[in-house]
Amino acid sequence: MTDHIPTRVLIVDPSAPDPQIIAEAAAVIRAGGLVAFPTETVYGLGANALDDRAVARIFHAKGRPATDPIIAHIADLQQLDALARDAPPVAYALAQRFWPGPLTLVVWRRPVVPANLSAGRATVAVRMPSHPVALALIAAAGVPIAAPSANRFSRPSPTTAAHVLDDLAGRIDLVLDGGSTPVGVESSVVDLTVDPPVLLRPGGVTVTALREVLPDLIFAPRYLTADGEAAPAPGMLLRHYAPDAPLIVVAGEREASLARMRSEAQLAIGAGKRVGVLAFDEDAPELADLPVQVVMLGPVTDPEKVARRLFAALREIERTGVDLILARDPGQEGLSLAVRDRLVRAAEGRVISAEP
Ligand code: TXA
Ligand code: MG
Repeated sequence: MTDHIPTRVLIVDPSAPDPQIIAEAAAVIRAGGLVAFPTETVYGLGANALDDRAVARIFHAKGRPATDPIIAHIADLQQLDALARDAPPVAYALAQRFWPGPLTLVVWRRPVVPANLSAGRATVAVRMPSHPVALALIAAAGVPIAAPSANRFSRPSPTTAAHVLDDLAGRIDLVLDGGSTPVGVESSVVDLTVDPPVLLRPGGVTVTALREVLPDLIFAPRYLTADGEAAPAPGMLLRHYAPDAPLIVVAGEREASLARMRSEAQLAIGAGKRVGVLAFDEDAPELADLPVQVVMLGPVTDPEKVARRLFAALREIERTGVDLILARDPGQEGLSLAVRDRLVRAAEGRVISAEP
């Protein structure tokens, strides 16, 4: 049990936030408090990034292991220079092209960065978000804002203020409710302290776009089990975004995948289980005759839309009380790579092949 603190909610216009509301939230940040706020990707749980006690409160509120470092959010490039030691020229090229936006850069840190923010590492992750509420809050606070996604550890990330309250009501000071977040999956995380640079987490900026600036960017996802070897990169753990019921991802060609989903569903139903399907719009008609709970993800041909829906859909389907959830592999084109990554983690690595 932890001390219960009253969580206030303030509604804020996502495109033109009221300066008075922002000033109120910024005062909470400066006083060492916790403020959840919308970014273009997901809601963040913010605290003064330069105050180690405020950062410690984030870990506590989320139930996050101290080994998983947190991103510092900035509103101007001077703040990058204040946090990073010798940021390489390519950092500025990436900033020029993708900031403000859903890209996080891992660079060497200066001593001013609290050790707990970086989980004891010599590096710091920095991102300049594009959401007007996030930018206004950071500017008004006058300090970089540490912010992981505003969910309880290992829960789906929050894309609405209601999701934040479901997980964190009574544990944080304030939520700025600016409606749904437009991107829906978290930022892409690129490690610039290694050569060649490595994509640690696929996200809102696609690999294709990143390679226009970083042609040698490596992406080698390693999905580790919780009791696996020491994580090469933090945050690579499986069992992330996990819904209450087990999820299985079916991979392969579409027709074969749908057939496999049908047989898995029928098997489970025969065993007395209630089954849910996270379905692409195109697939739903083919599953309509099955006695399953269907939650729609949007068209598989529109990964932006699917990304926007994904985390809300995960929370929605678990609320139906099903015992098993099935989903089809969205592929790896564009934003689908990030969607696939989140589904595989939510499935704790349970990916089965549709081909016999
Ligand atoms: O879109 C986002 O990035 C959202 C919004 C709120 O900005 N934030 C977010 O934070 O997703 P979080 O804490 O849920 O995920 C941050 C990821 C984790 O995988 C973490 O391990 C990694 O970034 N990370 C943070 N600092 C790092 C560092 N110094 N080195 C390597 N990875 C780091
Ligand atoms: Mg997170």
